Amino acid sequence: MCGIIGYVGPRPSQDILISGLARLEYRGYDSAGIAVIDGEGSLGTRKRAGKLQVLRDDLAAHPLTDGTTGIGHTRWATHGGPTDANAHPHLADDDKLAVIHNGIIENFSELKSELVAEGYTFRSETDTEVAAVLLGREYQASGDLTQAFRATVSRLEGAFTLLALHRDQPGLVVGARRNSPLVIGLGDGENFLGSDVAAFVEHTRHALAIGQDEIVAITPQEVTVTDFSGAAVEVEPFEVVWDAAAADKGGWSSFMAKEVSEEPEAVANTIRGRVHDGLVQIPELEGLDELFTGIDRIIVIACGTAAYAGMVGKYALEQWARVPVDVELAHEFRYRDPVIGARTLVVSISQSGETMDTLMAVKYAREAGAKTLSICNTQGATIPRESDAIVYTHAGPEVAVASTKAFVAQITALYLLALHVGRVRGALTDDAIAEQVSQLEAVPEKIARVLASEQEHIEQFAHWMADTRSVIFLGRHVGYPIALEGALKLKEISYIHAEGFAAGELKHGPIALIEPGQPVFVMVPSPTSSPLLHAKVVSNIQEIRARGARIIAVAEEGDAAVLPFADEVLRIPLAEPLFEPLLAVVPLHVFAMGLATAKGLDVDQPRNLAKSVTVE
Ligand code: G6P
Repeated sequence: MCGIIGYVGPRPSQDILISGLARLEYRGYDSAGIAVIDGEGSLGTRKRAGKLQVLRDDLAAHPLTDGTTGIGHTRWATHGGPTDANAHPHLADDDKLAVIHNGIIENFSELKSELVAEGYTFRSETDTEVAAVLLGREYQASGDLTQAFRATVSRLEGAFTLLALHRDQPGLVVGARRNSPLVIGLGDGENFLGSDVAAFVEHTRHALAIGQDEIVAITPQEVTVTDFSGAAVEVEPFEVVWDAAAADKGGWSSFMAKEVSEEPEAVANTIRGRVHDGLVQIPELEGLDELFTGIDRIIVIACGTAAYAGMVGKYALEQWARVPVDVELAHEFRYRDPVIGARTLVVSISQSGETMDTLMAVKYAREAGAKTLSICNTQGATIPRESDAIVYTHAGPEVAVASTKAFVAQITALYLLALHVGRVRGALTDDAIAEQVSQLEAVPEKIARVLASEQEHIEQFAHWMADTRSVIFLGRHVGYPIALEGALKLKEISYIHAEGFAAGELKHGPIALIEPGQPVFVMVPSPTSSPLLHAKVVSNIQEIRARGARIIAVAEEGDAAVLPFADEVLRIPLAEPLFEPLLAVVPLHVFAMGLATAKGLDVDQPRNLAKSVTVE
């Protein structure tokens, strides 16, 4: 939530800031702003409510004078609505310094009262302006931005990434982080700060990760990192594996369309390098066998789509690794005093690696003595850095707010993990692993087939359904989390009321919702590999069809049993039950996208949401 970029170097900073913000816009998009110190040493700022384009148009019409030191921000409102006044940067010290912020300063009202009592005035309703005014006061005292910044952040409670610059110290941007993301980009005679590497990947792939409660000062030639008391700290360099092109739309109508088209690749890339001679070998987990042998339980924690991936993963972890698995929403887990300890492995799943609810749950689990493993898509992110082990998904940058390719990559990583744990714990033979691996390796081509054969049909069908007011999704076994994901995707991007249910639960209540014409998507299990479940789901279909429901069946190629009862059939290739979710979810992603597009909505940036939710 909120994207942040900082730049110092020889180049005019405005374009660098704006193009960095464009790559960070997924983090929030209700207002944007920049501050630049120009050649004459004056501070120019511009900030506007609305998407980044509003700021761009404003800058095109009334350019700021150029300068080579700057900061930029794209906002997801927490304190104060999305107005020009509440947009960042916030100014202080007679408009000589500018501050941008991501997170929530929890003690802002006490600090504000203190400052108001001293005669300071405020122009916005934000918590951020309090930090700016405090920094101005400290600057007055010391005349040194880094020192004043250190004094300021020590007074703040909550979660924050803050960047600041001061007109009297051109060529310097300072930043600090506590429980919010910040990474450093190292250029040649120029340096960058960003909420994530997307902010600067078009300029450099050399990056440094900063730890919690650390302060960084960048000049064109130097990067200095200290803790909040000013003591030097070690920083971890890493190379960014994404290239800038991967984070571009590349001719697609939306990032979501591009990312759905990349679902086959996301699975293939997540498998790549982790299978040798038909067996799973995850290099990141080498030497960490005791993480898996010394446990008697796994708890998977995540939020949103990642939690549904976790629900799918539970079936594989239990079936292959024979370890009991619970899946829990991260924000619920932490506050219920869970029974965990040294024999618990907590597996977190997060595309961004920054979701605050998940991060706090991981920290809680560690403090309670549990082992932690992170499944994450973003290098240098906080959650993997806070975990004992990491398995990266290699889906590439996901920009559209609604997660698609990351979801299939997360399931793939969980399956690889389940096979790995199954081997380490002696629950699976090499032959059994090789059999599952070959099924997993066949998935990318099967997803590509679903897209090639069904995409147009589904988009057309979604177009016809553009006026629908409510959609129900049903599934059993691994089809159940897919039903939940189908419903979530529709809610997120097309603002249609949608619910996912376990098909067997229908008769215990939700069937009362069925009235003539009600569209119901049904994930139909394979008649060949799950005949029992198939028969049960066909009965469920008959029950709701008898009450007038309009059935859209997601069914295996060749399954004729559904034909008499389905109004529409979306076909997926044959697969063993555990691999069906990776195929069945694809038509649902395409459907949600098709329906939102038919309604004329922005599929990449749905209202009220942000991709990376870094507040609790
Ligand atoms: C937000 C996004 C969802 C996402 C969830 C978890 O709610 O809007 O699309 O699934 O966060 O995000 P993460 O980055 O932790 O996977």
